[in-house]
Amino acid sequence: MERLIDNNLVNDEENFEISLRPRLLNEYIGQAKTKKNLKIFIKAAKKRDESLDHVLLYGPPGLGKTTLAHIIANEMNGNIKVISGPSLERTGDLAAILSTLSAGDVLFIDEIHRVPRIVEEVLYSAMEDFKINVVIGRDSSARTISLDLPPFTLIGATTRAGSLSSPLRDRFGIVLKLDFYSDDEIQAIVERTGRVYNVPINEEAAKEITKRSRGTPRVANRLFKRIRDFATIDNNGFIDCDTAKYALDSLQVDSMGLDNVDIKYLKGIIERFKGGPVGVDSIAAAIGEEVMTIEDVCEPYLLQIGMINRTPRGRVVLEKAYKHLKMSFQNSLL
Ligand SMILES: Nc1ncnc2c1ncn2[C@@H]1O[C@H](COP(=O)(O)OP(=O)(O)OP(=O)(O)O)[C@@H](O)[C@H]1O
Ligand SMILES: [Mg+2]
Repeated sequence: MERLIDNNLVNDEENFEISLRPRLLNEYIGQAKTKKNLKIFIKAAKKRDESLDHVLLYGPPGLGKTTLAHIIANEMNGNIKVISGPSLERTGDLAAILSTLSAGDVLFIDEIHRVPRIVEEVLYSAMEDFKINVVIGRDSSARTISLDLPPFTLIGATTRAGSLSSPLRDRFGIVLKLDFYSDDEIQAIVERTGRVYNVPINEEAAKEITKRSRGTPRVANRLFKRIRDFATIDNNGFIDCDTAKYALDSLQVDSMGLDNVDIKYLKGIIERFKGGPVGVDSIAAAIGEEVMTIEDVCEPYLLQIGMINRTPRGRVVLEKAYKHLKMSFQNSLL
């Protein structure tokens, strides 16, 4: 089954997300501190008639990094060019896209931690001096030319700020961490989605979706979309609490928003490693999941809700997880 929390959007889902994206900072729900700071930086840059300083956005998947990048471009009245880190294979790929920018534009590099090293080095001078050196021609006719770039804003997004080299990280004037959303904020997002799609939903149902959305707007919207299907067939399109609960149970999302990979992860540590501490590589191998999925998708939320702990010796499952799984905490300590 396709994961509810994963990163790979199918086409239809991508369209669904795009139509739901807020376009202005004021429509962007939650992340109060980030929004407040951004407002000041944007206002100041506009007042000085300068491009906004380069921005690094980091945090777990689905919290609104891409959305925020589009909003920043929009608020700065610039165009946005979107590219993903791994697709920049050669320096020429970067030079080509940089040469299309105008003053005040935003270049958004998603998964910036996956930009190859040689391309990253070209980024340094582009970010710092708005200049790049490119080599044209080959062998004896090869020469380096220097290209001037218009003042632009680089926005980088990553789920793992720790994987960024420090020279790259240091070139971002603005570094913003996105946090998981509070229940009130997720509920507001669910209700907004209902309005955008013209699907009636009552407060109880919105709360039920919220509880199982792991503080993540993308998960909330995905659940909403699936539940809407159930409501269309069974309830004349109206989402009430019973429909929501029935749909959520059929989707195998449990009462705290954990899905089968989270459960496999927790049970894996408890049953095979006595609850930990255990290294992430061992647990990944034991349950047949990728280390990256575990570190980027499962663990941030399990840490946030206090089900696991990260210690120098490895991951440890905490009592709250045993309770949730209805497993005995004592046993595992013996
Ligand atoms: N603050 C918000 N208010 C309302 N909706 C939001 C907000 N943040 C995100 N969303 C919704 O959640 C969806 C996912 O957000 P987005 O694609 O920006 O996440 P992301 O952080 O870029 O994820 P990834 O790391 O997977 O690229 C968006 O389509 C948008 O509809
Ligand atoms: Mg994104």
